[in-house]
Amino acid sequence: MSIKRIKLWDLPTRLFHWLLVVFVSAAVITGNIGGGAMDWHGRIGLVILGLVVFRLVWGLVGSSHARFASFFPTPATLRAYLRGQWQGVGHNPLGAFSVFGLLTLIALQLVTGLFSNDDIAFRGPLYDLISKDLSDRLSGFHGLTSNALIALIILHLCAIAFYAHVKKDNLVKPMITGWKDVEQGESATGGGAIAFIVALLIALAAVYVGSGAWLPAPPPPAAAQTTPTW
Ligand code: HEM
Ligand code: HEM
Repeated sequence: MSIKRIKLWDLPTRLFHWLLVVFVSAAVITGNIGGGAMDWHGRIGLVILGLVVFRLVWGLVGSSHARFASFFPTPATLRAYLRGQWQGVGHNPLGAFSVFGLLTLIALQLVTGLFSNDDIAFRGPLYDLISKDLSDRLSGFHGLTSNALIALIILHLCAIAFYAHVKKDNLVKPMITGWKDVEQGESATGGGAIAFIVALLIALAAVYVGSGAWLPAPPPPAAAQTTPTW
């Protein structure tokens, strides 16, 4: 059978992925350092919020192989894949589980982080909307899910290494260049400039909501007493 070159991953999907790698790594590092690094942790978290919301919208309006509907795993596609009869391109049905798993865990991490506090000086930007008790519980959950996320990332890397060395399928190159050599399958279509702008605007709106900039400003600290009380 002849091999042809197709456009698999569009630029926004690739940019999303590699920016996610950089910022999630930075979030894990700054979260673990804590203390003075927490202000950066919060800013990095807001960038990840924008990236994930962008990807969620791009999964609906982006180019064909990046759309969730094109790789959503079903019992039929999973059976076909496990029998070696799956003929698609893009995320295979098993890989799709890890994609949705990673996105779900990162989303959980974001939602809990926005309301968390470190019991020292840092509070998530939406902390004021809930009680201290609930914020403490969400902070505990945030720490737990960060471990689950790290475990899933390690599994993700093992799966990619397995594909490269055992199945002789280099998944990384298409995630960098966009192109893949295949026996069958078509290049991605759709996901033009308008779709990109819509996804970008929705992502920016989500960052604005997550940043808490719309919340009323906290009351100024009580003025220092200047006149003696005697
Ligand atoms: C913080 C670390 C990482 C996270 C959170 C992460 C997350 C993800 C996500 C969410 C996807 C789905 C992409 C999409 O459809 O939008 C994905 C796919 C992919 N990732 Fe990562 N990733 C990480 C690290 C890496 C690294 C270091 C590599 C390369 C060595 C890598 C290689 C890939 C590849 C090749 C795919 C496409 C898999 C396929 O063809 O089905 N990832 N990753
Ligand atoms: C994918 C995004 C994120 C990742 C991977 C992440 C990861 C982490 C990690 C690893 C820790 C240390 C946990 C521990 O020591 O037990 C942490 C703590 C923390 N993070 Fe995040 N985080 C993310 C997003 C956010 C966001 C968006 C915010 C708020 C803006 C936030 C606020 C906090 C707070 C307040 C703590 C301290 C919790 C405590 O001391 O109990 N995080 N995060």
